[in-house]
Amino acid sequence: MKNEIILAIESSCDDTGAAVFDIQRGLLSNHLFSQTALHQSYGGVVPELASRTHIEKINGVVQAALDKAQVNLSDITTVAVTNRPGLPGSLLVGVCFAKGIAWAQNKKLIGIDHLEGHIFSACIEHQIPFPFLCLTASGGHTALYRVDGFGQFELLGNTVDDAAGEAFDKISKLLELGYPGGPIIEKLAQEVHFKDYFDYPRSDKKTLNFSFSGLKTAVLYDLVKRNAYDLKNKQLLDQSLELKQQVASSFLVCVKDIFKEKLDLAYKQHPDIKAVAFVGGVACNAYLKQQLSQWADTKQLSLFTPRPSYCTDNAAMIAFVAQYKIQQGIFSDLTLDILV
Ligand code: KG4
Ligand code: ZN
Repeated sequence: MKNEIILAIESSCDDTGAAVFDIQRGLLSNHLFSQTALHQSYGGVVPELASRTHIEKINGVVQAALDKAQVNLSDITTVAVTNRPGLPGSLLVGVCFAKGIAWAQNKKLIGIDHLEGHIFSACIEHQIPFPFLCLTASGGHTALYRVDGFGQFELLGNTVDDAAGEAFDKISKLLELGYPGGPIIEKLAQEVHFKDYFDYPRSDKKTLNFSFSGLKTAVLYDLVKRNAYDLKNKQLLDQSLELKQQVASSFLVCVKDIFKEKLDLAYKQHPDIKAVAFVGGVACNAYLKQQLSQWADTKQLSLFTPRPSYCTDNAAMIAFVAQYKIQQGIFSDLTLDILV
């Protein structure tokens, strides 16, 4: 097979990413412009601001990825782009940019599923034995998959409401701590040694689906009960660091238990699995990684997590999926559309 050099583009939410992947030499570059600082003052991602920023940044990001990889656009054989799921305006920027290059430079084109990118993100640097369980926990998605091969996966459980990362962000907002909530909650919880103070409700043990909106509501009403939150004026009354640390820590421990319970149930139903992958932005959390790794040890399984820059949104994972799609002969044409 002739060598392939892939240019991958990711713009599904608020990160503008580009990566270059050489099928023979591996990943050559992975460049990202993170918009987090721009959205911080709004307490979350503002879709229109995200798409406008992608438009402004995308050619600089793509050029930086090409420069870092020391390849020219003419060396690229296939352009891969996230075309689903995500914010429509954000996805359109990446897809139109990729199509423009593919059309003008006569390159092949592949539309990639962002979630498939996350699922295989731990495979970029690890050889994970199949079949494995994959827990994907990000700002937009929380799901459990059984993965049987490259491109072969089955959804076992999904969130019925909020994603885990979204819950971290909402609890952080409730406590007036800022955005994104995950790293702030983790830091506060660490300060009190991950102690469980409030024993928030765990999950429904009979299903592999997740519900994080219920947990957020439980935290809110527990604060109201303690006279620490004014529901009518949506105001945190107790601003003490002590309370914030205790809520953050109890919440994080509860999320850990929910993840463990779901993995336990999935493992009971799929005893042939050989490993576990924990991916997505929430997998940046060192405490969760360590706790899930301990859980995996008890089952004689290994836990694999990507490095933090492959946990949060990035184009390297899109390039990785594209390389096995190319080997499987799967391409898109210039009618490629977005799916939200
Ligand atoms: O994967 P990602 O960049 O975006 C989506 O695809 O949605 O994930 C971002 C999410 C945010 O909700 C953020 O709060 C969460 O990942 N996150 C964390 C940590 N770092 C980022 N959650 C828990 N602990 C962390 N250390
Ligand atoms: Zn993502």
